[in-house]
Amino acid sequence: MANTTARITVNGEETPISPAAPHTTTLDFLRDRGLTGTKEGCAEGECGACSVLVARPGVNKPTDWVAVNACLVPVAALDGQEIVTAEGLATAGEPGMPPALHPVQQEMAVRGGSQCGYCTPGFVCSMAAEYYRPDRCAHADAGDGTDAGHGDAEHGPNGFDLHALSGNLCRCTGYRPIRDAAFAVGEPADEDPLAQRRERPAPEPAVTEYAQDGSSFLRPGTLAETLELLRARPDAVVVAGSTDWGVEVNIRARRADCVIAIDRLPELRELRVESGHIEIGAAVTLTEIERRLDGEVPLLAELFPQFASRLIRNSATLGGNLGTGSPIGDSPPVLLALEASVVLAGADGEREVPLAEYFTGYRQSVRRPGELIRAVRIPLPLSPVTAFHKIAKRRFDDISSVAVAFALDVEDGVVRKARIGLGGVAATPIRALATEAALEGEAWTAETVEAAARVLRGEGTPMDDHRASSLYRSAMLGQSLLKLYAQTTEAVSS
Ligand SMILES: Cc1cc2nc3c(=O)[nH]c(=O)nc-3n(C[C@H](O)[C@H](O)[C@H](O)COP(=O)(O)OP(=O)(O)OC[C@H]3O[C@@H](n4cnc5c(N)ncnc54)[C@H](O)[C@@H]3O)c2cc1C
Ligand code: FES
Ligand code: FES
Repeated sequence: MANTTARITVNGEETPISPAAPHTTTLDFLRDRGLTGTKEGCAEGECGACSVLVARPGVNKPTDWVAVNACLVPVAALDGQEIVTAEGLATAGEPGMPPALHPVQQEMAVRGGSQCGYCTPGFVCSMAAEYYRPDRCAHADAGDGTDAGHGDAEHGPNGFDLHALSGNLCRCTGYRPIRDAAFAVGEPADEDPLAQRRERPAPEPAVTEYAQDGSSFLRPGTLAETLELLRARPDAVVVAGSTDWGVEVNIRARRADCVIAIDRLPELRELRVESGHIEIGAAVTLTEIERRLDGEVPLLAELFPQFASRLIRNSATLGGNLGTGSPIGDSPPVLLALEASVVLAGADGEREVPLAEYFTGYRQSVRRPGELIRAVRIPLPLSPVTAFHKIAKRRFDDISSVAVAFALDVEDGVVRKARIGLGGVAATPIRALATEAALEGEAWTAETVEAAARVLRGEGTPMDDHRASSLYRSAMLGQSLLKLYAQTTEAVSS
């Protein structure tokens, strides 16, 4: 299979992807073409030096400018798409004059947001994505001293959400001038070309058949075609947001003869709130879920800010988080507490499996070869008392040592139902069944909770590893329930 049609639009200019190898990252592709503003710091999604903007279907406008880690996304995955790099943010100046700085570049320059400059192009791309977020200004403070907007340390008076920069690291400037720059940007001007671009639809997903030197990157147009392809190519690697796969390619030098992209399949991109359940397509990104649900599932709303960075969440999917089968993924404990099920689609049809029965061993599941996770279903109504406690070395952008999710029904002071999901304490994510039994039917009192916390400390088979000792993990389980109790009683007494 030869391919000459795969193309990407970079800073307004369409360019063929060929002859890049199918595993080539967008970062390497850009740098090979001289766009060296996009930097490589870590090549594993941790530093944001490689951040670029991609035009994606918008939540509140036809198009959103979304910042992603170019080091993780294969360039072939962007066939037919439009991206903007730090070079493309500046607008052409008068003939013979240098381009005019973009407003976020200007603020970074005048507020001392850049010293060595290595991280700066990545910061300005992440900052530009937040600058163009359509509802950012709606969250701005009233400007009358009433602080009617956010008034919290993580949002500027201009509505700028600092979490937009949570995936960007700077080694030398210090973050205060960068935050000052972020909090100083105004509203995009009417004639701003990237602001205007939001009013037109984002590029449709291309059907891609890209091959070079014996390996291929394929993007089928429908779920049925994908399942047929998987039957024909059982060796293929399926990718969605590529935030796990990209690390495998860059750091562990993994290569696949055939990669099949599923992140734009319409059947995996639906999010529906129905009377009995909420169905979330496996390929809806975490950012989209966060924005489209807008707090409707409080436990998910608590999970997302603790799940990686905004840059990662802009690509990462629930299908990918469950698809890895990792015992320390953050969504499984939450989805277990919510009693979610997984809708699996195969060439012979669909089946629904409760998540509690999905994992069968370390990185193993009941998913058969050739099956895909199409969606996750969360039953309604939701239990009212919920919490997600992620114990990690850093507050944001870190892997869990232990993760605990609670969903409790407490009526008239009695625990009617308890569902507790745990991560990081066994070969698979698990339900804390003994603790659930110790709580159900009991009064929601300090005595019950202390007794149940002792049971919770004994759940699973936590290990010693470089993240935490088994003793620490067990202790954190118990503390987590005590913390939940303290939070609920504080809420009642305040
Ligand atoms: C810097 C960094 C920070 C991270 N932080 C966190 C964190 O805080 N918490 C956390 O849980 N994870 C974290 N991750 C891991 C990763 O972001 C998540 O696991 C993410 O949800 C993966 O989604 P994806 O769409 O990018 O998966 P991909 O990389 O595209 O795929 C991952 C695996 O899932 C399979 N897969 C994807 N979609 C499906 C599907 N629909 N059906 C069947 N199989 C499928 C793929 O075949 C592949 O094996 C982090 C990763 C990075 C690089
Ligand atoms: S190079 Fe560090 S996140 Fe991409
Ligand atoms: S300015 Fe040097 S790393 Fe940020």
